[in-house]
Amino acid sequence: MFQIKSDEEIELLRQSNLLVSATLAAVAGMMMPGMATNAIDKRAEEFIRDHGGVPGFKGYHGYPASLCISVNDQVVHGIPSARVLMEGDLVSVDCGVLLNGFHGDSAYTFTVGEVSPEKAKLVRVTRECLILGIKEAKSGKRVGDIGNAVQKHAEQNGFSVVREMVGHGVGRQLHEPPEVPNYGRPGTGPVLQNGLTIAIEPMINLGKRHIYQERDGWTIRTNDHKPSAHFEHSVAIREDGADILSDFMIIDEAVSKF
Ligand code: MF3
Ligand code: CO
Repeated sequence: MFQIKSDEEIELLRQSNLLVSATLAAVAGMMMPGMATNAIDKRAEEFIRDHGGVPGFKGYHGYPASLCISVNDQVVHGIPSARVLMEGDLVSVDCGVLLNGFHGDSAYTFTVGEVSPEKAKLVRVTRECLILGIKEAKSGKRVGDIGNAVQKHAEQNGFSVVREMVGHGVGRQLHEPPEVPNYGRPGTGPVLQNGLTIAIEPMINLGKRHIYQERDGWTIRTNDHKPSAHFEHSVAIREDGADILSDFMIIDEAVSKF
């Protein structure tokens, strides 16, 4: 039904995603007060090119940068700019790499210095939502099982799920079918098949779920201007569960070292 990848193609996708993760780890130390988001983007682009890749987002429907950097009430698709980070900011950094014909796509939400307890909880719960969604991502399950797991955990914690933006298939194209919403009912939607590769990317809001697009044509923000968090892994569906192709461990390590 959807494009199924061979084992060899999945290994290439893993290489692309590991370069994405290494890039996010390389900029982890820049999440500090006074740092301009376009400096972070510049460093990421250099790192990607130094490692033989090409930024996967740059030029995609005219997107102008290598990273999406979305701060506080910016949900996703924030364009790097002269804006400087401040103590207490939540910073979603989304990175894409094209390497050997395959797109890696992964995102991680960093915190700048000390953040409020509610922001810290939002980051923790959003990451848990991603992991719970991934637990449903195995052969024979359906797309709605993933969304339901994400939605349940977010709403049980008093948060809300962005509906308009979704996860997606990933491979030779950055966005392939199927769409992977972060909400839904169990047992609904397309069946997940062995060898399908998808990016799961919950966007969870502290306040209400509603969003709007800024006049730059990209940046998505919450209507109520409360913060939002975003984590994304690219995974391969296997008979016995998901094979996670991106890697948060090296990012966690980089975060703990500074
Ligand atoms: N992970 C984001 C997505 O899948 C990346 C956006 S890429 C952009 O939507 F090029 F559109 F910015
Ligand atoms: Co994505």
